[in-house]
Amino acid sequence: MTNHSSNALSKIDAFLRGTNAPTPFVVVDVDLVEQRYHELVKAIPAADVYYAVKANPALPIIERLVRLGSAFDVASPAEIDRCLEAGAVPAKISYGNTIKKRRDIAYAASCGVTRYTVDSEPELAKVADVAPGASVCVRLRHECGGADWPLSRKFGCDASEVENLLVLATQAGMGSGVSFHVGSQQRDVDAWDDSLQVVAHSMERARNRGATPTFVNLGGGFPGTYREHTPPIDSYGRAVRDALAKWFPSGLAEVMVEPGRYMVADAGVLRSEVVLVSRRSPLDSERWVYLDCGKFHGLAETMDEAIRYRLRTPHDGGLTGPVAIAGPTCDSADVMYEKSAYELPLALVEGDMVDILSAGAYTTTYSSVGFNGFAPLQEHFV
Ligand SMILES: Cc1ncc(COP(=O)(O)O)c(C=O)c1O
Repeated sequence: MTNHSSNALSKIDAFLRGTNAPTPFVVVDVDLVEQRYHELVKAIPAADVYYAVKANPALPIIERLVRLGSAFDVASPAEIDRCLEAGAVPAKISYGNTIKKRRDIAYAASCGVTRYTVDSEPELAKVADVAPGASVCVRLRHECGGADWPLSRKFGCDASEVENLLVLATQAGMGSGVSFHVGSQQRDVDAWDDSLQVVAHSMERARNRGATPTFVNLGGGFPGTYREHTPPIDSYGRAVRDALAKWFPSGLAEVMVEPGRYMVADAGVLRSEVVLVSRRSPLDSERWVYLDCGKFHGLAETMDEAIRYRLRTPHDGGLTGPVAIAGPTCDSADVMYEKSAYELPLALVEGDMVDILSAGAYTTTYSSVGFNGFAPLQEHFV
């Protein structure tokens, strides 16, 4: 665990010690989000930070980032509204979803949003039609090796299509640039290098055909602190700075970065309660631990056990044994961990609190509105 997450936990712990709030809930330390913003700016000084609102769209977080001068990557009109409500200026909002309804583009344009991501000709045509004069960010496909939460199959086009779309954007009188996403919770600091090479070559070829791309968007991918180790942010910063210098030796007019997870994951703790500890048969060494929080209460990223959270219990330090960990609903998909060799203290019993650490990103908004009659995951701020 980094010092920063330890600091955050001490403030969050003070809240947890003094609260009777019903579980499950997430408590977020907004000061840590601010710290993360500063750390990222220091790591990649050339880049403008566009916080990926989808990671945690809570108003206190967006308001703090507005005050710091952050820009925002949004996926929908509702996220645009949230940024505007928090005081963001439309010029600092980028509509990064490659799949947009025409009327949503029109709404964004009416709000003053001027940058839109596309990865196909039909989507470029929509933006050119509905938001003429906007600038487009053409998304390159990236094979997300090294990422615990890959984003490769659904998004992005290949290098030749990037080149083609940049040319078309210029012909339509639009500004342009190229984006990619190395996959979320990317553990390989060198992941940006390959894509930046492809981006540089595509931009060069497009320029030879008259296009005028000006910016590069490095996407997200910077990690939260989960069970498996990740390098410190300075290592990511160094690798990205080196890659930018290698592939863009004459510099770039504009560089964007769209961090989500890194900004908010470690700033949140999800408190849950043990509903039941049981065994399938008396001789089984594995216990089943059922929490009051599961896949339908914000822990969607435990799908395929992709994101492996760190857990904290009141009995830490005591003898442990193997467990499967599941949520409370009558749905057999509501199992978080069965194959990832989790162990929990043998002393753990019904009623104990289990804290799921670094749960500030991609949790609250994934929570269902009331599956099985359970209330959605609540959120508190310190
Ligand atoms: C377009 C875009 N930008 C940025 C992000 C944020 O990624 P991360 O949370 O890995 O930083 C995402 C995540 O899905 C995304 O889709």
